[in-house]
Order: sequence, then C-alpha cells, then structure tokens
Amino acid sequence: MKILFLNGPNLNLLGTREPEVYGRTTLADIEAEVRSKAKLMQVEVEFRQSNQEGELVNWIQDAKGKFQVIVINAAAYSHTSIALRDAISAVGLPTIEIHLSNIHAREEFRHKSLIASVCRGQICGFGSKSYILGLESAIYVIESNK
Ligand code: DQA
Repeated sequence: MKILFLNGPNLNLLGTREPEVYGRTTLADIEAEVRSKAKLMQVEVEFRQSNQEGELVNWIQDAKGKFQVIVINAAAYSHTSIALRDAISAVGLPTIEIHLSNIHAREEFRHKSLIASVCRGQICGFGSKSYILGLESAIYVIESNK
C-alpha cells in the first residue's frame, strides 16, 4: 500500500509562515509525524513539496501505477489551478484534498477549491492533524475499495 503526499507552494515555509494561521510545526515535522503513523499502520508513504504548478502536475501524472491514493495540500493552487484539477481527473487515482486551515472560514477567495469536485473528499481546519486524517482517509479508501 503506497500513498503519495503532495504539498504545494509556500508549504516549505511552515513553521515561520503566519504561525497564527498555520501553527509552528514545520513541514519536516509533519512528514515525520505522518511517517511514524504510516509505519504503525504498515503503509508506505512518499512526501513531496513543490512551489511549481507544473511539477505538481507531473507528479500527479507519474503517480499512476505507483501509488494507490494521493493526499494533496495544493495550497494556493487549490483556488486557482485548472491544470491540477485536470491532472487529478485525468489520472483517476483517488485523491484526498487537505488543508491545515479551515479554508471556508477564511477570506472569500479561499472558499472555492477548483480541485474539490475531482477529489474523494476534503479535510481542512485541523492544523497538522489534517495530514494524519488524510493518511487515515487514504487507508480507508484503499481498504474499503471505495
Ligand atoms: C492552505 C490554505 C490555502 O488557502 C493557502 O493558500 C495555503 C495553505 C492550508 O493548508 O491551510 O497555502 O492550503
């Protein structure tokens, strides 16, 4: 069982970036937490971050046949990227959208996610725990074959 975690722009700055919104946990801390939980649950995870939209598109395309589920925090691209939406739709792998913050309780431009309609579900608002919930949802999707 292999799950791909993708992280979009500016998430490399977690820890120092607007800590009142995103907390003080770094992306490396989050990755370590996801890895230790994944080990307990006996699943393999790969964790990647890019500030480039095209690189994220390439990673989604390449995931076919290598991963069973994608968990993605597309960050600002969630609200702008038809290319990411089309890649998720084209590849057809179950994809779970996650966010640290509750995008629906923030500025209006964050309320709309262009990828939401091609994702299996969305988790947002639980800080770094959104990633653990994303992992658990990914395992649920694989195990229940839904
Ligand atoms: C985010 C929410 C997005 O609106 C924002 O652009 C981010 C982070 C989150 O995890 O809360 O960069 O995806």
